[in-house]
Amino acid sequence: MEAIESQPVTADLSPSAIFLVATLNEDARSVQTVRSFCPDLAAIVRAVGFRDLDGSLSCVMSFGSDAWDRLFGYPRPKELHPFREIHGVHHAVSTLGDILFHIRATRMDLCFELATQIMARLGSAVTVVDETHGFKYFDGRDLLGFVDGTENPVGAPRHDAVLIGDEDAGFAGGSYVIVQKYLHDLAKWNEIPVDRQEGIVGRKKLSDVELDDAVKPSFAHNVLTSIEENGEELEILRDNMPFGDIGKGEVGTYFIGYARSPHRIERMLENMFVGDPPGNYDRLLDVSRAVTGTLFFVPTATFLENVAQETSIPTAPDLQPVEAAPSSDTSHEVAPRSDGSLGIGSLKDED
Ligand code: HEM
Repeated sequence: MEAIESQPVTADLSPSAIFLVATLNEDARSVQTVRSFCPDLAAIVRAVGFRDLDGSLSCVMSFGSDAWDRLFGYPRPKELHPFREIHGVHHAVSTLGDILFHIRATRMDLCFELATQIMARLGSAVTVVDETHGFKYFDGRDLLGFVDGTENPVGAPRHDAVLIGDEDAGFAGGSYVIVQKYLHDLAKWNEIPVDRQEGIVGRKKLSDVELDDAVKPSFAHNVLTSIEENGEELEILRDNMPFGDIGKGEVGTYFIGYARSPHRIERMLENMFVGDPPGNYDRLLDVSRAVTGTLFFVPTATFLENVAQETSIPTAPDLQPVEAAPSSDTSHEVAPRSDGSLGIGSLKDED
């Protein structure tokens, strides 16, 4: 049996990143272009990354719910659905996005070159709806001035937090990712005294030491995002990045969170935007506005490698096949297997 290899979701936090969110164009040819790109992604990353092995270039490619159906059909990851908007004290918007590329490296030129090579291949099959270039800011701080990323799980707990296991065996080794682009009102934030800012985040600003429970407010960010179920802490992996456009007066934090179930991140968002209990919301949101929100599934590297170039997409047994190419010939249709796997791989070299 072929060993399953995950995409590099658990890679270490990096000094530079590019987040590319794209929509998949409507026509069948675009679907085929993306499918034929999938098995080649690893080689493109290798080609660019080899130019500086110390640059630790990596790329994670993930897919939104509708795009999954159009590109891969049946079976589908159990918990894949569009990002759910939240109307609480603040508003978490749901925005367009079929494909996310999370490109990380120690140098921006590697990220930029890889993004260029990816887009050269995908061309007009996709439309980039958001491109954010993230950078590390002094001591790993966000632009609010707090160190961001400290409590991320490491080692085995990191893998356990983000990689799907037996709960969805057909997609084991995959992951879910939610991204949100937040714009900060820095003028408003900087008017808040530092001790109150520390209460909002739940940590000391300069030293990054966590506040004592006795003084930490119940609405502190790290209280509302610490969630438990059945006595077990449900962790996620974040790789937030500051970004900015001085000329436009836009500065912000690009939130990216990976988890083995989107439910974990959704519960945190509910706590932040609605409050726990309702009304006891995250005050970071008084100075940070979410302008995007999208949920994607990260298949394994093995899955991408094996995407076959057949002309129609397998559907659930009770559905009609989805045409993926400008052909009415469904004779190449790949029937869903009884083991729930996609019968993929055999036509890999056809273009
Ligand atoms: C404006 C956007 C955000 C900013 C500036 C921000 C910043 C921070 C900072 C400074 C910390 C403390 C240091 C650390 O442990 O990393 C933190 C912790 C954390 N954040 Fe955020 N965050 C943002 C959005 C989010 C969102 C949307 C989620 C999840 C839905 C989230 C989940 C978490 C979690 C799980 C922790 C660790 C809590 C703990 O166990 O102590 N954050 N964040």
